[in-house]
Amino acid sequence: MQENKSKCDSSQERAYRTNFGDAYRGKVEDVLDSGLVDACVGKVDLLLTSPPFPLVNKKSYGNETGETYLRWLRDLAPRFKELLSPKGSIVLEIGNAWEPGVPVMSTLPLEALFEFKKSADLFLCQHVICHNPARLPTPAAWVSVERSRLKDSFTHVGLLQKNWPIV
Ligand SMILES: C[S@@+](CC[C@H](N)C(=O)[O-])C[C@H]1O[C@@H](n2cnc3c(N)ncnc32)[C@H](O)[C@@H]1O
Repeated sequence: MQENKSKCDSSQERAYRTNFGDAYRGKVEDVLDSGLVDACVGKVDLLLTSPPFPLVNKKSYGNETGETYLRWLRDLAPRFKELLSPKGSIVLEIGNAWEPGVPVMSTLPLEALFEFKKSADLFLCQHVICHNPARLPTPAAWVSVERSRLKDSFTHVGLLQKNWPIV
């Protein structure tokens, strides 16, 4: 329903609750601004996220691109770090993106991972490649039609820690 949709787009609401805690539905920046997670500052051991990727052909949820994407992700890093406990980690997955209209991969996903690390002074303890051989052959124009590029079947996963060594 449109009414529910606009509520989700502009604010946040509790989606469900278990004995382990609450899940909120909404934009991460809105949830952080709302004060709803203030009680978690310094207590989170793992923040696992697959945020929107900087795709040129935008998804329906409206991912950012270019410099705006870089700024959006970078600005989240210190806010996430604040939530982490001294032994806390962030696992961040970023998928690939391509330059508009040409068979050239964008460096933005890697730049975004490094900017995220730098802006919060995090330790990139491991950069993992998540390989998914079952991925469809995309970008179709270059992989299936022109056949000039291999299919893009991996994403980048960063394991970032607040402290190293952990004390
Ligand atoms: C890259 S997808 C995640 C894909 C998921 N890992 C999977 O494999 O299906 C990004 C998700 O983030 C959500 N999203 C978009 N903007 C967001 C925001 N500002 N805050 C939180 N989540 C957002 C989207 O609705 C989408 O579900």
